[in-house]
Amino acid sequence: MENNKFPDDFLWGTSTASYQIEGSPLADGATPSIWHKFSHIPGKIKNNENGDIACDYYNRYEEDIENLAKLKVKAYRFSISWPRVVPEPGKINQKGLDFYKRIVDKLLSRNIEPFITLFHWDTPLWLEEMGGFRERASVDHFLFYGETLFREFGDRVKHWISLNEPIVYAIQGYVIGDMAPGYKRNLKGMFHATHHLLLSHAKLNAILHKSVKDAQIGIAEAQIWTKPLRPNLKRDRNAADLMDNLINRLYIDPVTKGKYPEKLLAKTAKHLPKAFEEDLKEMGNTCDFIGINYYTSQSYRYSLFTPLIHAREVPTPGYKRSAMWEIYPDGLYNLLLRVKTDYGNLPCYITENGFPLKEVKGRDPLDDTERIEYLKEHIQRVLKAKNEGVDVRGYFLWSLMDNFEWEHGYDMRFGIIRVDFTTLERTWKKSAYWYRDLIKTGVLNL
Ligand code: NOJ
Repeated sequence: MENNKFPDDFLWGTSTASYQIEGSPLADGATPSIWHKFSHIPGKIKNNENGDIACDYYNRYEEDIENLAKLKVKAYRFSISWPRVVPEPGKINQKGLDFYKRIVDKLLSRNIEPFITLFHWDTPLWLEEMGGFRERASVDHFLFYGETLFREFGDRVKHWISLNEPIVYAIQGYVIGDMAPGYKRNLKGMFHATHHLLLSHAKLNAILHKSVKDAQIGIAEAQIWTKPLRPNLKRDRNAADLMDNLINRLYIDPVTKGKYPEKLLAKTAKHLPKAFEEDLKEMGNTCDFIGINYYTSQSYRYSLFTPLIHAREVPTPGYKRSAMWEIYPDGLYNLLLRVKTDYGNLPCYITENGFPLKEVKGRDPLDDTERIEYLKEHIQRVLKAKNEGVDVRGYFLWSLMDNFEWEHGYDMRFGIIRVDFTTLERTWKKSAYWYRDLIKTGVLNL
């Protein structure tokens, strides 16, 4: 019989991010992030919503950590807002640090292991105004911020995530333009930002290991399983392969193998900073673990008219979809196996996985059975990969509670805890009870 029990030391957790939950973006000496600016531009966000209040976690984090304790999670992944901590170049805001200090202390008092994300897209506006990640100077600013956090929390926090989904930041922020900083068709911006973010990660790894004992640092990578629409056609296979290079390998290969994926490089080298090859020498082997954010798969067909990549995404016939994406649990299994076969079986965590649901009149907002089904199927693939020797050590559900879903505003809800965005009241959904029971037993009942 297949083993359906996770080991007792498997790290069950939930994930959130600063701009999506905190609110009070300018409190206590913080300065604006690019998301603060972007979300206040009319027409950028669904219903013109923004993160001014969000879940008001800035004032209610104690209640939220109590919920984490009741869920019995062993770990909590959250991000720090850079412009709260470094409101101006080179200046540290103690009040900002104190906020996160209260969170870390409270988590530890409840035996919950903090996993801190340094960069979950809320770049300080002052940095963006200096050219943001397009400029190499961003690396030094990132290191100043990172060193500050390692110094402040390194004695108690041992798991660090330098970057969250750099591909999404780069593509949506520089090419599509529907996310901050909101540039369109700026390939140079996209590849410069990519390179400087990855280089920052590599340097942060070195600094962390020099200054903090027994700590680990990785990247939470957006991973999408890409497939050719018509597998018998070579041109569709090539299209899917190039998209795999772009979405997945572009952000893992440099920090593991010390190189950019070759097929992609052939097309994009001209958009990278001049010194990129030199930098790659210090980028390899700088992931202590790989974080996988997994939600979906995508099919691609060859398209003559799409510049650079010649690939166009098309819905996979016959696949079920959530409110945002197609559903393909096997993609998670495939990507986990790939960590074993292609990346030396580095330790890995599912740093995000979750299911969006909109509230509709006439349906109980607390009954999220569809979410439970999605989670079960995905967690089953995690277990399968684990049973086959993949060194997957934990699973962080996105998300602890409904929150600001970027360009979709508050409409798209990912929480296992409901937030009433008028009263800010938190209420457990069916999935929260289900997750608590799974954590308690470690047994996945399908
Ligand atoms: C990825 C991002 O890291 C997170 O911020 C976002 O809310 C979820 N996926 C859902 O889209």
